[in-house]
Amino acid sequence: MDLFEYQARDLFESYGVPVLPGIIADTPEEVRAAAEKLGGVTVVKAQVKVGGRGKAGGVKVAKNPDEAEEAAKSILGLDIKGHTVKRVMVAGGARIKSEYYFSVLLDRANRSYLSLSSFEGGMEIEELAVERPEALARIEVDPLQGVDLAKATEIAIAAKFPADIVDKVAPVFVKLYEVYKGEDATLVEVNPLVLTEEGDIVALDGKVSLDENADFRHPNHEALVDQDAEDPLEAKAKKLGLNYVKLDGEVGVIGNGAGLVMSTLDVVSYAGENFTGVKPANFLDIGGGASAEVMANGLDVILGDPQVKSVFVNVFGGITACDAVANGIVKALEILGDAATKPLVVRLDGNKVEEGRQILRDAANPLVSLADTMDEGAAKAAELASK
Ligand SMILES: Nc1ncnc2c1ncn2[C@@H]1O[C@H](COP(=O)(O)OP(=O)(O)OP(=O)(O)O)[C@@H](O)[C@H]1O
Ligand SMILES: [Mg+2]
Repeated sequence: MDLFEYQARDLFESYGVPVLPGIIADTPEEVRAAAEKLGGVTVVKAQVKVGGRGKAGGVKVAKNPDEAEEAAKSILGLDIKGHTVKRVMVAGGARIKSEYYFSVLLDRANRSYLSLSSFEGGMEIEELAVERPEALARIEVDPLQGVDLAKATEIAIAAKFPADIVDKVAPVFVKLYEVYKGEDATLVEVNPLVLTEEGDIVALDGKVSLDENADFRHPNHEALVDQDAEDPLEAKAKKLGLNYVKLDGEVGVIGNGAGLVMSTLDVVSYAGENFTGVKPANFLDIGGGASAEVMANGLDVILGDPQVKSVFVNVFGGITACDAVANGIVKALEILGDAATKPLVVRLDGNKVEEGRQILRDAANPLVSLADTMDEGAAKAAELASK
């Protein structure tokens, strides 16, 4: 999960990373009030989860509350790379002497952490990496050792910071690493990290991505979720503990095992080409032990998608045998009752396939039809969805 700049700022503050005051505002009036409260020069900054806000006109310096209000009028509602600005942060204005770059991130390819840093900030880092790669220091960080003052000093020297600045930035690098580690982040980036005319180091912009797999360790992260941006079906599925991803097609898909579900998406897309181009509506992996309850929850989420016209259940019986899955489907349809209205094509194979098919035949639910193979099931479901 990516955070907004103001959320990153708050996290930084709680770890003792030097930041400037920042106040969130949703209207020009609130921005004026915030600028009055902060006093002096402020910077009005668009809060969108996309880079390049400054260039798009989403970051404006204001000398007084009047200017801040004007800036807010031009920034609120602005479209930045497809993201509409609904909220701004009014930040204290820094008197910038130099701009630097620092980040620490998860380096999956090397199964390690990586710190990127540069004495030359201000520029977009992707540009710097291409045009002047020698100005960007890439230092591996051993996850077991982390970034202590010695490591931070090594990073700053590699990034060509002069000696007197090294002593100032290194402790900030240590704190930023503490944010990274302490919050189970996959990225902590500060661009720019600045030296002010007063000689202080301040993080002026922060980008933080959190690893959702570690959410169980961080009850405070739930409050950071952007409710507006979350898909309501995905939110519902998450609450039910389901592995569900919303897609934009018409054929609901349920399978067991991520690999099988991925192939099912392919097969449905392929079959859909013969039927008005219908596509899969979702990814849903109900995993190994497909109990009736899990099946009911899965069907409930999928049938709640108004775009869904048919559902393809594709299950390969392994440890959980097909008879248990078939019972799950029958019970799920009982639980859902009138809420189940769309046709289901079921393909079962593997352990106890005959018993499973017999259970579905005996139940004789008019919504359910059986398919012998994955291709046949996909074609049937696609055809039903195209009607
Ligand atoms: N509080 C501040 N005081 C003074 N100048 C600021 C402040 N915040 C930002 N700036 C200036 O504006 C520039 C752009 O700001 P910022 O880095 O926050 O946005 P951005 O880089 O355009 O956005 P993104 O990081 O999303 O690409 C900074 O490089 C800095 O020069
Ligand atoms: Mg920036």
